[in-house]
Amino acid sequence: MFSSLGAAAFVATFAASALASKPLATQPCSDALVPTQIRLAYAGDKGMAVSWNTNEQLTNPTVYYNKHEKNVLKSSAKSKISTTYPTSSTYNNHVVISDLKPDTTYYYRPQCATQTYTFTTARSAGDNDEFSFAMIGDMGTFGPDGLSTTVGKGASNPLKPGEHTTIESLTTFKNSYDFIWHVGDIAYADAWLKEEKAGYVTPLNKTDGGAEYDKILNQFYNQTEGLSSAKPYMVGPGNHEANCDNGSDLTICLPGQLNFTGYQAHWNMPSAESGGVGNFWYSFDHGSVHFIQFNTETDFLNAPDEPGGEGAENAGPFAVSGAQIAWLKKDLASVNRKKTPWVVAAGHRPWYVSTTECIECQLAFEPLLLEYGVDLVLHGHKHFYERHAAVNNGTATEIENNPKAPWYLVNGAAGHYDGLDVPDTPYVSTSRKVISAYGWNLFTVHNCTHLSTQFIASGNNTVLDSATLIKKRSCK
Ligand SMILES: [Fe+2]
Repeated sequence: MFSSLGAAAFVATFAASALASKPLATQPCSDALVPTQIRLAYAGDKGMAVSWNTNEQLTNPTVYYNKHEKNVLKSSAKSKISTTYPTSSTYNNHVVISDLKPDTTYYYRPQCATQTYTFTTARSAGDNDEFSFAMIGDMGTFGPDGLSTTVGKGASNPLKPGEHTTIESLTTFKNSYDFIWHVGDIAYADAWLKEEKAGYVTPLNKTDGGAEYDKILNQFYNQTEGLSSAKPYMVGPGNHEANCDNGSDLTICLPGQLNFTGYQAHWNMPSAESGGVGNFWYSFDHGSVHFIQFNTETDFLNAPDEPGGEGAENAGPFAVSGAQIAWLKKDLASVNRKKTPWVVAAGHRPWYVSTTECIECQLAFEPLLLEYGVDLVLHGHKHFYERHAAVNNGTATEIENNPKAPWYLVNGAAGHYDGLDVPDTPYVSTSRKVISAYGWNLFTVHNCTHLSTQFIASGNNTVLDSATLIKKRSCK
């Protein structure tokens, strides 16, 4: 577990220890060093973070890469980051490649991999070409340890026979988007206790709940590898990363399953490049958009996952008091809207939603999002889809009408063991469309004035909702 100082040191070490090429890894390959859970994250428009897991520690995690030849990967990058934590059965390895060209496809292969993969670097800020990205929230594992065609006692909304999972649907559309943005609640490894109590899964080991948690975590990251090894998989923190027990019994969690430990160890978001903190808050540019991930779980006044918060997760903080809000203000103030006319922000917990809302999140974040003209705010956490109008302190403007306030959209419906939530009726006045179905959003940034979305039902890949935000401004 990292204290706030520890987290900062962890991040600093991360940034400083990405080494240049030369000398190549000499550690002999073995089954225990074969990479699993390969995942990518943007690291500026000339970089790419490549991460993967191994059963044993690597001395110098190394990635081979090249722009052209598939089989001869002449360049390499390496680091010293190969870490584990209590209850983890694997090591998390992280390397940042930093000498790349923007919007360019490269072949790459982590050491000891038996195949070669490809990634495409980010589009430079100011590139006005149309592009798309995929957005999901609240996605857990699929199959017998997660969402399947059956449910345990107290759970609901199993998959219907023949329905695709969200991972399968995202895979079908993989050539349609540049990256995936998972806005919190990742893997739902903390559902193990609920699943055991419901008779849905049999305990692996009655004296060691950690085994089931670790099993689900690894299973999820293996299931998403087909996506995350091909597309940058950007993430934000959700409450289900905070501890191991789904909030039911705080005494049962083992060290290593508290305070976002696995989440911190697993991912390598571009906070070093954007002055943020770990995988908790950061930003990046991609084409005509400045993307911001903020943290609705810890590190602001009355944050829900901190000790005393309503989530009772006993997590955080990860920086000194006020640091996140100060960073957000500075980041927003520094956006060059001539280069990136669009600003899109995401945080896990919603405040415009037709069920219990996160008022403390609204108090912390809405004033800055309004002040700096953020165009679109994405949330998850609630397990349905709800598209809102653009909203300023509760007052709605239609999104086709050049709104001055952010457009809000909630989608925590990617699917996990616990099914879907039922929204309260009547819906809140800002609501424009509610759908209770498993699905994900495909966002397309057409130009500097039009940004649209489609909500795609994972089960049968059909479009259940479409909407377009229109801004009046002149494009370069
Ligand atoms: Fe959540």
